Order: sequence, then C-alpha cells, then structure tokens
Amino acid sequence: MSVSRVVVGVSGASGAAIPVRILECLAEIEGIETHLVVSNAARRTLAQEVGPDALGRMLSLATRNHAIDNVGAPIASGSFTTAGMIVAPCSMRSLAGIATGLSDTLLIRAADVHLKERRRLILLTRETPLHLGHLRNMCVVTEMGAIVMPPVPAFYHRPASVEEIIDYLAVRAIDLLGLPIAPLAREWQG
Ligand SMILES: Cc1cc2nc3c(=O)[nH]c(=O)nc-3n(C[C@H](O)[C@H](O)[C@H](O)COP(=O)(O)O)c2cc1C
Repeated sequence: MSVSRVVVGVSGASGAAIPVRILECLAEIEGIETHLVVSNAARRTLAQEVGPDALGRMLSLATRNHAIDNVGAPIASGSFTTAGMIVAPCSMRSLAGIATGLSDTLLIRAADVHLKERRRLILLTRETPLHLGHLRNMCVVTEMGAIVMPPVPAFYHRPASVEEIIDYLAVRAIDLLGLPIAPLAREWQG
C-alpha cells in the first residue's frame, strides 16, 4: 500500500487544540505518515490552551517530529515528496513569513517548499480583528496557491460543545488536503 506523507505545522496562534485533533484523526487513517513541526510560541499556546501534556501527546501521535530550528530536516527539501501540509493554527507571524518567503524556521521553510512544489498548503490563519497587512498576506499566499481556511466555526450543524467545533475544523482541514480517502466531514444534506 502506498503511504501519503502529511506535514503538520503548529504555530503560536490561538486554537492549539485543533492540531491535536488533526493528528488524532490522521493517526487513525491507514497509510498516512505525519511529520510534525511545532514553533516555540506554539509550545506556549499548547500549554496555555490545552494543558501541560498537549505537546507530549502531539509528539507521540506524529510519525516523525522535527525541531523548529532544523532547517536541514527532510521536510525542508522539495525532493522529499508529501501529499500536503496543514499549518494549524497559523499565526500572523508565520503567515507573514510564508507570504514573503522568509523561511527562517522549519515550519515556514516547509510551507515555502509546498508552495514552490505546487503542493497543497492549508493555512488555518487565526487573528481577530485583522489589519490590512494581515489581509494582504492572506491574498499573497492565496495567489501563490495556498488555501486560507481561518478556523471559523459553522453553526448550521448546531455544535453542542467546543470539542465538536474543534472536530469539525480538524476534519475540514484534512479534507482540503485531497488525500485518497473518503471525506471525513459530514455533508450538509439541505
Ligand atoms: C496565549 C497566546 C495566544 C496568541 N494568539 C495569537 C493569535 O491568535 N494570532 C496570532 O497571530 N498571534 C497570537 N499570539 C502571538 C504569537 O504567539 C506570536 O506572534 C509569536 O511570535 C508567533 O510565532 P510563530 O509564528 O513562530 O509561532 C498569541 C500568543 C499567546 C501567548
């Protein structure tokens, strides 16, 4: 069976529970190899928003973990083939780095590689409200081929808990990768 590699980048915006759920979902799917890179600021938001065990749980869920300063990791090279990358959540700092090709961290470099190799890049950009620079950076990355998916909940499914909202955002982000699997998100039937 062929293996699909997925890179999960976690930066220091609010919504740290989302990548934990993304990794839980991906770990349940056969034939997926996950590569995790967590920014230094994300270590803080994970501890603040999810708890002291969150980082350890994510590290244990991922197939491979890469240090944020290891710009020589396999995911820093276009020759290392992947099915796509999700940055969840994506801070305005990391967004700016991706928009300008700054590539000073492994997370931003891996995102840059996905853009240059014309692979799927899903950015769960999170800030509110947004200034013109944030909005412009979202336009720039969209023009370069990324999919901007702010983690905005849908209410038509009538979520009963925060966990349901997080679950919905996680599966929608995974579905956007276009992996060779059935969609995970429940379809709206009208
Ligand atoms: C609790 C907490 C919540 C934060 N929420 C956001 C946010 O929602 N969006 C954002 O762009 N930055 C947010 N920040 C600030 C970023 O962590 C900061 O800009 C950091 O430099 C981002 O670095 P990174 O992109 O390498 O993770 C938050 C910081 C903390 C401590």
